[in-house]
Amino acid sequence: MNEISTIAVLGAGTMGAGIVQVMAEAGLTVLVHDPQDGATERAQHRIEGFLGRKVEKEQLSADEATAAASRIQPAGSLEELGAADLVVEAIPEELELKRDAFRRLDAVADEATILATNTSSLSVTRIASATSRPGRVIGMHFFNPVPLMALIEVIAGPTTDPEVTNTVALLARRLGKTPVVAADTPGFIVNRIQRAYYLEACRILEGGLADVRTIDEAMRGIGFRLGPFELADVVGTDVNLAAGLAIFEGFFGDPRYRPAQVQRRVVDAGRLGRKSNAGYYEYGAEGAQGACWPALARTPLLPALDDPQIEARILAAIVNEAASAVADGVAGPDAIDTAMQLGTNWPEGPLAWGERIGLLSVVNTLDALHASVPDGRYRVVPLLRSIGAAGGSFFPARG
Ligand SMILES: NC(=O)c1ccc[n+]([C@@H]2O[C@H](COP(=O)([O-])OP(=O)(O)OC[C@H]3O[C@@H](n4cnc5c(N)ncnc54)[C@H](O)[C@@H]3O)[C@@H](O)[C@H]2O)c1
Repeated sequence: MNEISTIAVLGAGTMGAGIVQVMAEAGLTVLVHDPQDGATERAQHRIEGFLGRKVEKEQLSADEATAAASRIQPAGSLEELGAADLVVEAIPEELELKRDAFRRLDAVADEATILATNTSSLSVTRIASATSRPGRVIGMHFFNPVPLMALIEVIAGPTTDPEVTNTVALLARRLGKTPVVAADTPGFIVNRIQRAYYLEACRILEGGLADVRTIDEAMRGIGFRLGPFELADVVGTDVNLAAGLAIFEGFFGDPRYRPAQVQRRVVDAGRLGRKSNAGYYEYGAEGAQGACWPALARTPLLPALDDPQIEARILAAIVNEAASAVADGVAGPDAIDTAMQLGTNWPEGPLAWGERIGLLSVVNTLDALHASVPDGRYRVVPLLRSIGAAGGSFFPARG
């Protein structure tokens, strides 16, 4: 097993800075490189600010904060990162950019060095194949904001050495995070299952069956911290659409993942969410949520859905998607439920939730939707249907 003592982080943007911070706080020396002028210094500055606030809140002593900051070492070139035991790449989400960076890292790093990518939607296997060490390449998918989010999806490709997966999972624990190992498949666990949350909401909206605010309020009413549309506004409607398109393509156009027209419409209008003060909603100067975008209003053609009907449809979609991830071998039921709770702050894991409301009722909801829209988007995952029909559970060991 690898002893990890020196980490390197490539890219000091939003994610890179957060990763550097948690590594330094965990006592690791962190080399950082970003080719953009001043980016590393800005990241250091931001990190020092965060550490200072932790001292004020008495979550950290002043000595610990100083020691953590002193463990961060700017590096003048990508090549200098080769001295680390593990490099985490957090550069923009472009395959060729990442493959090129991995090729260069591979050329300079010790043969034992682990190369990890923080990609959200690209194939870890395709990045690994740019190197001469695919066994030592892995995904380490942190969530934003890194210091606060407890989950790390550890993405093991078909070529990743199991010992590397174990080393990275142990490192995640050392950072105080919960690692969940997932197979290298489109959207991994969290982004894949979250698609269903957004897409079913969009389908209800596009069907003229409920408006944006009603859908958001319904989902908040059953414990989601944010409704699907306000969440998309936080994430960025452009970032969200790009993730949705990548997953749709990753599944070769499976209708279950087909993005909704309304998602494109907000992006085309330059309504990118909170960062542009307008998305599905308008936002005031202080970030206060205002009215919904009037262009999204539909004249109802059918009777409106009530809150329980909205909730049943969206929950059925996420339970089906979680079952599909189990069926595809992305991860086991426990890991999937843990990932959704920690990666998205969902109040309950989707599979446990499905069992609480009844798997048969989930299947019935989906079958009824499939009968009216038989293009495949609502087809019930066979594993879900058979467990539901048998009165079984995704968690038989729990009794
Ligand atoms: N922002 C999120 O919420 C989030 C969450 C999980 C994963 N991710 C993933 O993390 C990665 C980084 O995202 P981000 O939001 O931090 O982006 P960002 O734009 O904030 O930061 C990227 C940084 O990489 C630098 N950079 C550009 N080209 C580089 C190169 N060739 N070598 C080294 N550095 C380079 C840029 O100067 C910039 O500072 C992406 O793969 C993204 O998909 C993002």
